Amino acid sequence: MFDFSPSAGAPKSEIYRDLREAALAITDGESDGVANMANVAALIWQFLPDLNWAGFYRAIGDELVLGPFVGKPACIRIPFGRGVCGTAAATGATQLVRDVHAFPGHIACDGASASELVVPVVVDGRLVAVIDLDSPLPARFDDEDAMGIEALASAIGGVLTS
Ligand code: SME
Repeated sequence: MFDFSPSAGAPKSEIYRDLREAALAITDGESDGVANMANVAALIWQFLPDLNWAGFYRAIGDELVLGPFVGKPACIRIPFGRGVCGTAAATGATQLVRDVHAFPGHIACDGASASELVVPVVVDGRLVAVIDLDSPLPARFDDEDAMGIEALASAIGGVLTS
């Protein structure tokens, strides 16, 4: 049994450090990328409050394909350049969207989503996936969240590919 739990009321920096350590521990020695994405999505869900979707899209060819996640069923294929996820994939840059309704081309998988954070996962210079977080709260994510998920992506990117 795994028993990782976030410390109640801890500052974001501490939550992201603990999340990263839990993700490294749970993926340690496991080479199956899908299993690792599934456990990391579950950890993100457990550690971060006020999310309605948390998970992965995998970069396959010139599109993103749905990977392990927690939340409502979501659109399966997103071409690079489309929506928030496709923009992160095409540009290689984190997308911090405080109001999804103001983002041109936002793809609404869950009508409850109000803000979104998408971080590319790059391994050896190659995009392998994006981490996508949605929240029902407007402006749920800030620069600290972006940095926390970017640090998570670089810590665990190498165990997501097989
Ligand atoms: N909103 C995303 C689509 C994926 S869902 O949020 C799970 C987008 O615009 O790319």
